[in-house]
Amino acid sequence: MYILLNGEFKQKNEVSIDFEDRGYQFGDGVYEVIRVYNGAFFAMKEHMERFVRSANEIKIALPLSEEELSVQLNELLLKNQVQDGAVYMQITRGVTGRKHLFPGKDVKPQIVAYPIPCSKPVSEQEKGIKLHLMEDVRWLRCDIKSLNLLGNVLAKQEAFEKGAYEALLHRSEHITEGSSSNFYGIRDGVVYTHPANNLILNGITRMKVVELCEKNGLKLIEEMIKVEDLVNLDEAFITSTTSEVIPVIEVDSTKVGKGVPGPVTRELQRLFEDMIINEEKVFGKGI
Ligand code: PDD
Repeated sequence: MYILLNGEFKQKNEVSIDFEDRGYQFGDGVYEVIRVYNGAFFAMKEHMERFVRSANEIKIALPLSEEELSVQLNELLLKNQVQDGAVYMQITRGVTGRKHLFPGKDVKPQIVAYPIPCSKPVSEQEKGIKLHLMEDVRWLRCDIKSLNLLGNVLAKQEAFEKGAYEALLHRSEHITEGSSSNFYGIRDGVVYTHPANNLILNGITRMKVVELCEKNGLKLIEEMIKVEDLVNLDEAFITSTTSEVIPVIEVDSTKVGKGVPGPVTRELQRLFEDMIINEEKVFGKGI
């Protein structure tokens, strides 16, 4: 497998990461996970924009242009002959002696990208999943796709131990999102999801769902859902790059609606699938 390390392609066994990388010591960096369908990146522009925004928010300047980075990422796909999967990419503030203060300009950010396996969670998409509700104890800049994922990791693990596929996080009375996904509730045909502010990550799949609703006459309102209103939902679903659209049928043993994937969720799953196929048609196959 080829790894992209600061503009160079290396074999996995040739790459070593310094123990004084600030990503390793402080989680001082940001990342993206970009889906690859049929040899081509899906929503590359949006991922690149979010990557640059996240980096800017933590004051890391990209050492190359977005275009240059996109070219390198496409080459990474070709070199690894990725057909269906994903690419993980991260940037850290660089390698230096352990001090909290930012290092001087001589310390260069480190960019690493490599392919990771990813396939459609077919069974979950078909049957729906269970969520486990818990308090959102993360920091107040969840809009930044930070390498610091302790809050997310702990939530996902707890959900798994409770027999759920994903965590459903709430800050006191309001639902925010999942540990690695966005959450949506549907009531009387209207889709509700948390506004894209500092309390959630504005998912690329979320942006696509908003767009799909607009284009297809489905009403979507960016408004917080109250924990107490979960019992009144007709349907619910989550989205992410790796999950796409997955119906939610239960939250901690309480059924959502009838306890089966609902019609609006099914419609959005179908529209999202069409969007993937159409994007392929527009941009052509990667390899
Ligand atoms: N997670 N919210 C959180 C906290 C996330 O970590 C993610 C993605 C999302 C969905 O964003 P998107 O649609 O852009 O994938 C929402 C990625 C996939 C991960 O950490 O693996």
